[in-house]
Amino acid sequence: MSIVYRVIQAVMQVVPDRARDEVIDQHQYLGQPIDRVDGREKVTGTATFSAEYKVEGLTHAALVYSTIASGSIEAIDTADAERAPGVIAVITHENAPKMHVAPLLGHGGYAGTTRLEMLNTTEIAWNGQPVAVVVADTEERAEHAASLVRVTYTAKPAVLMLEDARASAKKPDSVLNMESEIKKGNAEELLRSAPFSVDRTYETPRHNHNAIELHGAIAIWKDDSVTLYDPTQFVNGAAVSLEKIFGLKKGAVRVLAPFVGGGFGGKGGIWAHNQLCVLAAKVTGRPVRLVLSREGVFRAVGGRTASSQRVALGADESGKFLSVIHTGITSQSTTNTFQEPHTFPVRHLYASESFFISQSIVDLNSSPNTFMRAPGESIGTFALESAIDELSYELGIDPIELRMRNEPTVDPTAGTEFSSRHLREAYSFGAERFHWARRPAAVASQRDGDWLIGQGVATGTYPMYRYPTSTRIRLRADGTALAQTASQEMGMGTATVQAQHLAERLALPMSKVRFEYGDSSLPAGMVAGGSTQTVSIALAIEHGSEELKKELLSLVRHNPDSPLHGADAESVHNRKGGLYRRNDPNVGETYVSILARARKEFVEVEAHTGQAFEILKYSMHSYCAQFCEVRVNAVTGELRIARFLGSFDTGRILNPKTAVSQFRGGIIMGIGLAMTEETLVDSRTGRIVNPSLAEYHVPVQADVPDLDILFTDIPDPYTPLGAHGIGEIGITGVGAAIANAVYHATGKRIRSLPITLDKLM
Ligand code: MOS
Repeated sequence: MSIVYRVIQAVMQVVPDRARDEVIDQHQYLGQPIDRVDGREKVTGTATFSAEYKVEGLTHAALVYSTIASGSIEAIDTADAERAPGVIAVITHENAPKMHVAPLLGHGGYAGTTRLEMLNTTEIAWNGQPVAVVVADTEERAEHAASLVRVTYTAKPAVLMLEDARASAKKPDSVLNMESEIKKGNAEELLRSAPFSVDRTYETPRHNHNAIELHGAIAIWKDDSVTLYDPTQFVNGAAVSLEKIFGLKKGAVRVLAPFVGGGFGGKGGIWAHNQLCVLAAKVTGRPVRLVLSREGVFRAVGGRTASSQRVALGADESGKFLSVIHTGITSQSTTNTFQEPHTFPVRHLYASESFFISQSIVDLNSSPNTFMRAPGESIGTFALESAIDELSYELGIDPIELRMRNEPTVDPTAGTEFSSRHLREAYSFGAERFHWARRPAAVASQRDGDWLIGQGVATGTYPMYRYPTSTRIRLRADGTALAQTASQEMGMGTATVQAQHLAERLALPMSKVRFEYGDSSLPAGMVAGGSTQTVSIALAIEHGSEELKKELLSLVRHNPDSPLHGADAESVHNRKGGLYRRNDPNVGETYVSILARARKEFVEVEAHTGQAFEILKYSMHSYCAQFCEVRVNAVTGELRIARFLGSFDTGRILNPKTAVSQFRGGIIMGIGLAMTEETLVDSRTGRIVNPSLAEYHVPVQADVPDLDILFTDIPDPYTPLGAHGIGEIGITGVGAAIANAVYHATGKRIRSLPITLDKLM
């Protein structure tokens, strides 16, 4: 870890905490199960998604994907495609204008996902890489013409599978800016001498993104600027990256993302759909719509790496951990850098005498891997929490009890205090509601006809983080308020929760406030990723409201006619649609009255927040206890989830209705991770062989039981609104909870996901 980081960390220990935000304890709008502000539009089908905009003279693009994984293009024959009906242009490396490469996601606000010079190179780096764009007057004609492009390749040897590349695994300098290796004490030695231990390897397969809304964009050039409708999770990042790629001036690309039909990390960056859509519109001089097919998303957009993870645990007779080891290998591609942080959970979950934590990485000829809901924590908790369960049987200690005996008092690897950690409460509420006490300790001891029944549990965790974010707040003479941040709403409830926040903060009714997002021309936000967006915007709105209060006071402070004459910011607060004196709540003025007196149409302020240095002072994480009951058919191996309960400790819940949806969605994706999701790759060619929802199985309604959700709802005093981001925690721990329940039902320990019936026969 860098010296600068260490210095900031040391400084942070003596920086005083900010005063508790009073809105944390207000509940008029925040904390209420308010309906989604965009719910009606979405369920009635009137919400317009990016690829649905009606644009005059719209043309359609389709892509050609490479069929080899490594090598180069020898020749590309586009004659037939060019002659096909309706074709306007066929763009290849031979005629594409020169583009630049955008820095990768996480670097300076850019959103690049590959170092490959897409369509400016003959180089082939993965099977499925886009090699040509065909533009035609209809989508079908574009698709047909794309099928007529003939590419001849010179193939080079490729490295395709994680298991074939183990020997070349290397330790990266860092994993998402954290150490790739942590050593505390001699963990191997203590493992060997521990009276009880397990030492296991767990495997997880590649996964691909399958948001309901496909990656689809519409690009419209006008002179040297572009408007792009793009369902991106990172509106600013997409805009600045495309400016960089096409050598345009700042502000020349306007990205609009009014609604996004799911992202999960797969829409965080620049992928073929947005970059090549802008390219096609530039080359043709026409508005272009480029929607990847479901297969196209598998080919061109990255997913989650496979992993091979070792977890070894040593404990004394009482179950106290003496040694905790979590190491593993994941992959990235030859054209990107992205380490799946699967060892992040183990850094914060348990106390132990010693630790050895280490990640290594191999480069594959695969599509550039990327963020996919709780990258790291989802698969990392599968390995870690399976191993804890295995150890509990070695020790003969209940798996919840074993975890509770190893609850740390401070962060076990960072050494910092927890800002808020109530995992004990989450377990106790969950265990009671799930009737954990009725569970027999013995495995394979419950049966209903052919069905073996078992219950399992696992801990999940996800970091609390926020990004620097800006907002503009405008208060109008009619008493309505608007906050604007270039951010996005992909179903998580951002638009609703920030409106609740604005109403609570300014003491206005919900009907008088609005939150605007999804437009890169608004004040900059960051990526809606890493479960950061809600708290990031919340802090900007908190600061903006302070600015607004000062601005309003500057209008009345010197006016002897105003009841707020002489007041300063500390002595007044927002109440009943105005500013009132704290020491005399009836003395004050409404916003309408303040603006009328000042003869102003509106007042407007901007606020910008800084880096999240508070995470260096405190260990800031969310936690959950996932409880699962499974039924496994003794004859067929069929696995069904009978009951599932998630008990969450994620700070204050801002809207229980949207929050429950987030938690349920995460758990459902976790059911997919545990039972069905697996990208199958042809080990000879690197071709994904199941690029469709018919062959790549995500959970359907019949796979998902009622999901019972509990939360501690205890505010974190050091986070905006006392909240944590909650988009990703839901998937964490689910894989292990299911695998642990399967073991309890059957006595079969499945260490390789997904848990398909062949593994249970
Ligand atoms: Mo999330 S994987 O950061 O969209």
